[in-house]
Amino acid sequence: MKHFLSLQNSSADEIVALIDSAAALKAGRRTAGAPQPLAGQCWGMMFSKSSTRTRVSFEVGIRELGGNAMFFSGNDLQLGRGEPIKDTARVMGRMIDGAVIRNDSQADLEEFARFAGVPTINALTDLEHPCQILADLLTMREVCGGWDGRKVAFIGDADCNVARSWVWAAKHLGFELALAGPDGYRPPEEWLAGVGAPNVAATADFGAAVEGADVLYTDVWVSMGREAEAAARREAFRDYQINADLAAKAKPGAAVMHCLPAYRGMEITEEVLEAHADTIFREAENRLHAQKAVLAALAPA
Ligand code: CP
Ligand code: NVA
Repeated sequence: MKHFLSLQNSSADEIVALIDSAAALKAGRRTAGAPQPLAGQCWGMMFSKSSTRTRVSFEVGIRELGGNAMFFSGNDLQLGRGEPIKDTARVMGRMIDGAVIRNDSQADLEEFARFAGVPTINALTDLEHPCQILADLLTMREVCGGWDGRKVAFIGDADCNVARSWVWAAKHLGFELALAGPDGYRPPEEWLAGVGAPNVAATADFGAAVEGADVLYTDVWVSMGREAEAAARREAFRDYQINADLAAKAKPGAAVMHCLPAYRGMEITEEVLEAHADTIFREAENRLHAQKAVLAALAPA
């Protein structure tokens, strides 16, 4: 693995190996002799969008693996004043050992990776949030005992970056995924047909999606960059909320997961979130362990 840019272009073996490694790093955290594959390295983090979990978990993870993290927000680099990505990448790639990027465009991320010549990690783009789903899969393994034969129901903005990374995870790993979102907020049928995963279905019927589910999952209704559409989205998603009634339709004992940040009273109720807080904040912690696995897999020797 040279970069970690998407789950689309990851293989099942790579995903499982990363989760195994994440579990081992989690178990061995803070023990004497914990591995330091980033010793002496400087990793650059370029984030043009806000972040709590991703930023903190990468900064802590890089340090725990022996490296140094440098954080740049959208305005810190000349990139914010129009310097081309390929020039930024060629400059930074001569100095840093690896890059972690959160931006608006998967194409820009891929261009950076091509020109920088150093391992590059997707920390969220318009199309994917692969680090989030790695942490979610680790959480599923811990909470549900794995994903084989399980059903995940994604409720809400079923065509967002997090939902699309779930689609690729389901395609590679074979678990059942039901995406429930209103018209206009589900992956286009032709796109899903192109993915070619018969175990993935998209529907407007949130009740049917949740039936038999082992995991109910949601994300914000208004993703970063979509703030101008907030009113229309809140109206469209009004019924696509994980609340006690919907949760009762899932398999008894089903887990509820949320990538966070959570907006109570919108995509999830306070009651359901707090009832499942152990799982949801475990998921947040697992960002650290999953991303350390990615960093360790990509670290230049
Ligand atoms: N889930 C997630 O990526 O959170 P942040 O936006 O806070 O990084
Ligand atoms: N879909 C959300 C994920 C936040 C972690 C967004 O892009 O804002």
